[in-house]
Amino acid sequence: MLSSKQHNLHMEIITSKYYNDVIGHLKETFFADEPLNKAVHLTDPGQGHSLLELHSLSTLKDNVSVMAISQEGKIAGVALNGILHGNCDIEKSLDKLNDIDDENFKKIFKLLYEQNLRINLFKQFDVDRIFEIRILSVDSKFRGQGLAKKLMEKSEEIAVEMGFQIMKTDATGAFSQRVVSSLGFITKSEIKYSEYLDGDGDQIFVVEPPHEKLKIMYKVIN
Ligand code: ACO
Repeated sequence: MLSSKQHNLHMEIITSKYYNDVIGHLKETFFADEPLNKAVHLTDPGQGHSLLELHSLSTLKDNVSVMAISQEGKIAGVALNGILHGNCDIEKSLDKLNDIDDENFKKIFKLLYEQNLRINLFKQFDVDRIFEIRILSVDSKFRGQGLAKKLMEKSEEIAVEMGFQIMKTDATGAFSQRVVSSLGFITKSEIKYSEYLDGDGDQIFVVEPPHEKLKIMYKVIN
């Protein structure tokens, strides 16, 4: 059911002419307020972050990302989706973190990549590619109205059309976890932030409630 605000919105695949607008949207939302980014204070609202921008752009280039956009051309939300080609993609990404100086960025992606390597969905389902929802982001004015769910549903439609068998996402907070659970995603692994500690026994991410854990979630779609 679309809320009154959403009647003005439509869904589109993100093409290159929107890349700058998408980055603009992410600067106002995800870059600063995704639970792990917020926990390490990766950046301030409205500010850029060169590594996250590169990560977003390389995901956009897979051409399977979607946005909800108003008639006036304002982006209300995005699902940035990427295609993973085997665990070697994740191993390479983990390796590349060694060349990065930004310790906060590094610790977020180290957690994500290491957890993904541990579970190995490629082996479990005997597939060589997986459709990954990498960045789910809704403008604060449109939150709590089911828009994230709509973006996920559109993403699933694309994944099904392209013949993917498995979709997955690293859901870092309570709201994204509720959205994907409601769409039938299953939790493959989870780790509580209060139990993810450094060598001195200190918590690496002090994440604001209600966000408690990272969940790696998947759905069999074909
Ligand atoms: N307080 C309480 N509950 C909330 C709130 C809130 N502020 N916001 C959403 N919810 C609940 C909704 O009620 C809904 O639960 P329900 O289905 O039981 O009613 C659920 O969370 C999802 O709500 P949606 O309206 O579908 O989600 P929304 O469009 O608000 O977008 C999103 C959710 C994308 C997580 C948004 O809050 C956001 O952009 N947050 C910042 C970035 C972020 O954290 N992204 C996800 C990280 S994980 C990833 O990207 C793969």
